[in-house]
Amino acid sequence: MTIAKAIATNRESLRHQTREDHNRAESTWTKSGRFDSRQDYNAWLTALYHVHSALGVAAAQTLGASWLIDKEQSRCRALERDLGTCGSEKTPEKTGTRSWAWGVQYALNGSALGASLLLKSGAIDDSWPRNYLTEMQAFAKSGALKQFFSSLDRTPVDIEEAGHGARSVFGALADNKPYEETAGHGGRVCQQELRTPL
Ligand code: HEM
Repeated sequence: MTIAKAIATNRESLRHQTREDHNRAESTWTKSGRFDSRQDYNAWLTALYHVHSALGVAAAQTLGASWLIDKEQSRCRALERDLGTCGSEKTPEKTGTRSWAWGVQYALNGSALGASLLLKSGAIDDSWPRNYLTEMQAFAKSGALKQFFSSLDRTPVDIEEAGHGARSVFGALADNKPYEETAGHGGRVCQQELRTPL
């Protein structure tokens, strides 16, 4: 009897390709499911702000999906409210192929599942702002994320190119904390800029 091997969907394939990257992005910022400090949480939101404004908007534009452009812009506004900043977003850049753009959007939209978990699990202090996480959780709960995953799976994409796009998101967040432990006294030095520019 021949047993046919199930063909992985685009989502499954991207999840598989980026498992290690996801783990690194998660463990860079959270330990035992929590952020160490408000400073770490702010640095994480800042890194996400750069990713959404530079890669997310560019990818949504490449896909020509106005609802996704609106979502990315709204996520940037939510991040600005959390950070108490305005208008310092990166110019959308690095437009790649449509497959690349699907991969970028897979990583950014899929992270709404992580956002829901962070809110539910008490990973952030009650007094910390949560506009961004709440917006991402609402996206996951509304059915829009499910619809996005369905569209991804119905679309013929170059899966390697899409993996490249997804990893560019994770790569900008993993191992990219703008603080370094200083040798000797365990203090932290803020480097101001992210080490890996987008
Ligand atoms: C910082 C802490 C994070 C935590 C605790 C976390 C946790 C999770 C959890 C629990 C899931 C659901 C897994 C499942 O349904 O089986 C998930 C999915 C996902 N997360 Fe994260 N995540 C984090 C950060 C991120 C970041 C920074 C990104 C990228 C920007 C990301 C991208 C994704 C993606 C794409 C999925 C969907 C995977 C799939 O196809 O099912 N996550 N995350």
